[in-house]
Amino acid sequence: MFESADLRMTRISLNHGAGHLPALGFGTLIPDPAVTITATRDALKAGFRHFDCAERYGNEREVGRALQAGSAAGDIAREEIFVTTKLWNSNHRPERVEPAFEASLERLGLKYLDLYLIHTPFAFQPGDDQDPRGKDGNVLYDHNVTLLDTWKAMETLVDHGKCRAIGLSDITLDTLKPIYESARIKPAVVQVESHPYLPEIELLEFCKERSIVLLAFAPLGHGMKPGLLEDPVIAAIAARVGKTPAQVLLAWAVQRGTAVLTTPRTTARARENFDISRLPADALDEINRIQTRQRLNPVVNTGVPGFIPQAKSTAEGK
Ligand SMILES: NC(=O)c1ccc[n+]([C@@H]2O[C@H](COP(=O)([O-])OP(=O)(O)OC[C@H]3O[C@@H](n4cnc5c(N)ncnc54)[C@H](OP(=O)(O)O)[C@@H]3O)[C@@H](O)[C@H]2O)c1
Repeated sequence: MFESADLRMTRISLNHGAGHLPALGFGTLIPDPAVTITATRDALKAGFRHFDCAERYGNEREVGRALQAGSAAGDIAREEIFVTTKLWNSNHRPERVEPAFEASLERLGLKYLDLYLIHTPFAFQPGDDQDPRGKDGNVLYDHNVTLLDTWKAMETLVDHGKCRAIGLSDITLDTLKPIYESARIKPAVVQVESHPYLPEIELLEFCKERSIVLLAFAPLGHGMKPGLLEDPVIAAIAARVGKTPAQVLLAWAVQRGTAVLTTPRTTARARENFDISRLPADALDEINRIQTRQRLNPVVNTGVPGFIPQAKSTAEGK
């Protein structure tokens, strides 16, 4: 980890010499295409240099356009930006991995990716339907491909040089362990929900011991109310240190050694969420002692996204 006096500039080194991940990242899970463009440009302008995308978010083209326009306007080189995208569940068959990767790259308008993640460890029926369902409304899983089969195809992408690092998302420690042990190229990043109500302590320890970066999503509790942003411990610390609850939650995430993704949608919130500064040790301790436990996104149990608006009325749990 590159500790910087300026917490906003913290970068975490990736295993396999795959570069450095800016700890503070911008997430692009934004359903509205026009808002995707303005929010991505605002984030770049505010100082974010790490952008998290996904085939499943349906807006890689908009993110790509915003990054290109924003980079040109701000004279920002491609190497200064870290871009991630994710392989969706319906593309787990090894022969579908490289085409899915190339399609994402084309939509983003990029020549290489810094990081490619398997979005969830659940393989859905292969094909163009991202949400394949049976007549009963249940997800159609693909039992003819293993996570290790998909991982090996991901390794090939690194071999071909178009992708600098690979990793997994929405994974539990029990599922991560066998992949880590069998992998020729070890996962560089694991992206999971994490915040003070879901600190994922055991997973974080496992990752730190093996130089895997834990990349936390929903650090503000996905903005749900009531929730983390109104937590009395967070609110009291925010008042004491002269920061907002969002800034306190993001600083805590970076100071505990994780990378973190947040989704500000307005110019003001982009500036606010980037403007984090170091919390004193007693504040970190107070946050670590919060007892509330809550998982907000059930995707880890089924592979069905928890925060993406539902397209089909029959689907449950989205
Ligand atoms: N791997 C996965 O399965 C997975 C799942 C979920 C998310 N992710 C990634 O993680 C990223 C971040 O997750 P997230 O969107 O849940 O993050 P988040 O930052 O915890 O939540 C975003 C919500 O918080 C609100 N918010 C943002 N800044 C705020 C502030 N300063 N004060 C008050 N409210 C604020 C926003 O509300 P408004 O709508 O009012 O602006 C927004 O809807 C996503 O964009 C995506 O890239 C990955």
